[in-house]
Amino acid sequence: MKKISILVGSLRQGSFARKIAKNTLAMFPENYEVQIVEIGHLPLYNFDYDDPNMSEFPLPESYTEFRETIKASDGVLFVTPENNRTIPACLKNAVDICSKPNDDVAWTNKPNGIISHSVGKMGGYSSQKNLRLALSYFDMPSLGQPEVFLGNSPNYFDEDGNINAERTVKFIQDYIDRFVKLVESTSA
Ligand SMILES: Cc1cc2nc3c(=O)[nH]c(=O)nc-3n(C[C@H](O)[C@H](O)[C@H](O)COP(=O)(O)O)c2cc1C
Repeated sequence: MKKISILVGSLRQGSFARKIAKNTLAMFPENYEVQIVEIGHLPLYNFDYDDPNMSEFPLPESYTEFRETIKASDGVLFVTPENNRTIPACLKNAVDICSKPNDDVAWTNKPNGIISHSVGKMGGYSSQKNLRLALSYFDMPSLGQPEVFLGNSPNYFDEDGNINAERTVKFIQDYIDRFVKLVESTSA
C-alpha cells in the first residue's frame, strides 16, 4: 500500500479546491490509500514550539500528529486556490510546520504534485508558482509537466460535486497517473 496525503489550501466549507481534491481520490490505483489531511486546526507556526530553550511553548500535539502523517506518506498532493497572488495562509502554515525541526524535516524525499484552481481565468497561476518556490527549499521530487491550472473552477461540478467534463477529467487523471509514476519511482 502506498499512502498519499492531500492538503487542501482552503478552509471554506464549499471550497472548490476540496471538491477537486475529492474528485482525485478515485483516480489513484487500488493499492493507494489516499486521504485529505486537515490543516485548519493547526496553530500558527511559531519557532518557539521547536526551541528546546522555550519550555513555556510545548510542541502542540497537532503538530506532532501532522508531521507524523506527512512522514508516513509516500507522496503529497497539494490542491490549492490563490489568495492575493500567493498561497492561502493555512497552506503556508502547513508548509512551515513540516519544515522544522531542521534535522527532521517531514517534507524530505516526499514526491509532490500541485493542482491549483481559481474562480477566474488564471487557474491560480501565482499560487502554484509560489508554492513551488516554497517547496523548492526542501528535497522534494516535484512533478514538472503537465502543470495543472484549473480556471473558472465553479463551472466544473455537477450537483454532487463531481467533475463531469470528459476533457477535464482526462486532464486531471493524466496528472494523477504521472504523479503515481513519480511516487513509484521515488519510494521504496
Ligand atoms: C482573501 C482572498 C483573496 C483572493 N485572491 C485571489 C487571487 O489572488 N487570485 C484569484 O484568482 N482568486 C482570488 N480569490 C478568489 C478565489 O479564487 C475564490 O474565492 C475561490 O473560490 C477560493 O477557493 P476555494 O473555493 O477552494 O475556497 C481570492 C479570494 C479571497 C477570499
